[in-house]
Amino acid sequence: MSRLVVVSNRVAPAEEGKQQAGGLAVAILEALKSRGGIWFGWNGTTTENTESGPPDINQVGRLTYATMGLSKRDLDEYYNGFANSTLWPLFHFRLDLASFSGRTYAGYQRVNGLFASRLAPLLEPDDLVWVHDYHLIPFAEQLRTMGLSQRMGFFLHTPFPAPEILVALPGHESIVRNLCAYDLVGFQTEADLRCFANYIRYEAGGLVEELEEGPPGWSGVRVHAFGRTAIARAFPISIETQTMIDLATQAADMAQTQRLRDSLGGRALIIGVDRLDYSKGLPQRFEAFQALLDAYPGNRGQVSFMQVAPPSRTDVAEYQAIRRELETLAGHINGRFAEFDWVPIRYLNKSFSRKSLAGFYRNARIGLVTPLRDGMNLVAKEYVACQNPEDPGVLVLSRFAGAAKELDAALIVNPYDIRAVAENLQRALTMPLAERRERFESMMKVIVANDITHWREVYVDTLYGLGSAD
Ligand code: UDP
Ligand code: G6P
Repeated sequence: MSRLVVVSNRVAPAEEGKQQAGGLAVAILEALKSRGGIWFGWNGTTTENTESGPPDINQVGRLTYATMGLSKRDLDEYYNGFANSTLWPLFHFRLDLASFSGRTYAGYQRVNGLFASRLAPLLEPDDLVWVHDYHLIPFAEQLRTMGLSQRMGFFLHTPFPAPEILVALPGHESIVRNLCAYDLVGFQTEADLRCFANYIRYEAGGLVEELEEGPPGWSGVRVHAFGRTAIARAFPISIETQTMIDLATQAADMAQTQRLRDSLGGRALIIGVDRLDYSKGLPQRFEAFQALLDAYPGNRGQVSFMQVAPPSRTDVAEYQAIRRELETLAGHINGRFAEFDWVPIRYLNKSFSRKSLAGFYRNARIGLVTPLRDGMNLVAKEYVACQNPEDPGVLVLSRFAGAAKELDAALIVNPYDIRAVAENLQRALTMPLAERRERFESMMKVIVANDITHWREVYVDTLYGLGSAD
């Protein structure tokens, strides 16, 4: 079996219970725990200069962590700059929030080169190198220019934008050329794959051949562009379904879960769990909850909405702005409706362990997941896995989350249509048990068949089955 070398900017901390919010780190940790391998990336610290030595090595079970710090300038240009002020908004269809700067682009390429030069000495010839997410698109190209010819795969955890949006990025062809240096490029959904294929066809003048049909939702293409050939395919990411089921069952007895139930005093709970990110549609969600209280006043005093929203990327101005906006909105709605014994919105700027979340999900009548754009959204799948099969809650899910393709038995909503989201909340609150069970069982089938282990196996087998680029 080849060694699996995973590369990502964010690496989950080795210590138990220290996991951060964010689908990538959660998913990779689950995917790697059982198979083992090397996980290379940023250790989350800022160093005085970039001339740090080899990465720090830390062995935890079958997993070897190889991590390094980054200088303030590198973080500013690469992470806060090009990755999170240019690519993230652009890939989430938010041209209005994207900024373009030659300085941060240069920093992005430079840090990719730095990471590649630190990983290269650790690589063995038959390693499989699996690079994750928009921070590291140029990584394979950097390794290839150093003469490395291992099989290299990439997986994008975010949406891939329509070409009409991508072409607004100055130098967009170099980003797509970088992607084509991988042997395998993975996307969350077929819609993302189509956007990529359309760019190759209509912008890069390349050739796209459909591959033999895979299972529904997992189709692929072979692309020829920029003098390179790569396979691109949809691999819808998932969760460790059985673990979440177990956590939710155990959480029922946790003191914290009991305290939540006591605090609700028999009221129905609507739960949202998201990093504090403008892609998650939180202002629209708060407004939809307000519209529910306006349009169906019987819910006043009877329903509580708890939004867990740990702050994210706090050095980026747009994230500071969304935080201020939500504070105002939550304050306004609570001020308008609260009673001496009931606060409509519980708004929490802190993160919780997945065990705590499992208990929260299980006690929530509704999981409210309404991003304006999201690669997959693991919270949607976790919410379903954590339900009590005898008396499950209802998932209200944005059509713009990748998860909506697989979880089509959720109540699918357009998050921009505030009134319709409120109506669906009311429908969920009053949904008969038989319908709730039917929808739950249909969604469970999907996440049992495609759990994180299945996802990892299909990706790694596909990468393994391809020849090297050289
Ligand atoms: N999460 C967590 N603690 C929190 C909030 C979120 O562990 O307080 C986890 C959540 O359980 C999920 C991940 O962070 O596994 C978020 O992934 P998702 O795909 O929903 O969104 P992303 O943050 O990747 O955009
Ligand atoms: C999303 C991105 C990941 C990122 C995570 C948390 O899931 O796709 O690449 O790790 O958000 O964001 P952060 O900037 O804290 O790593």
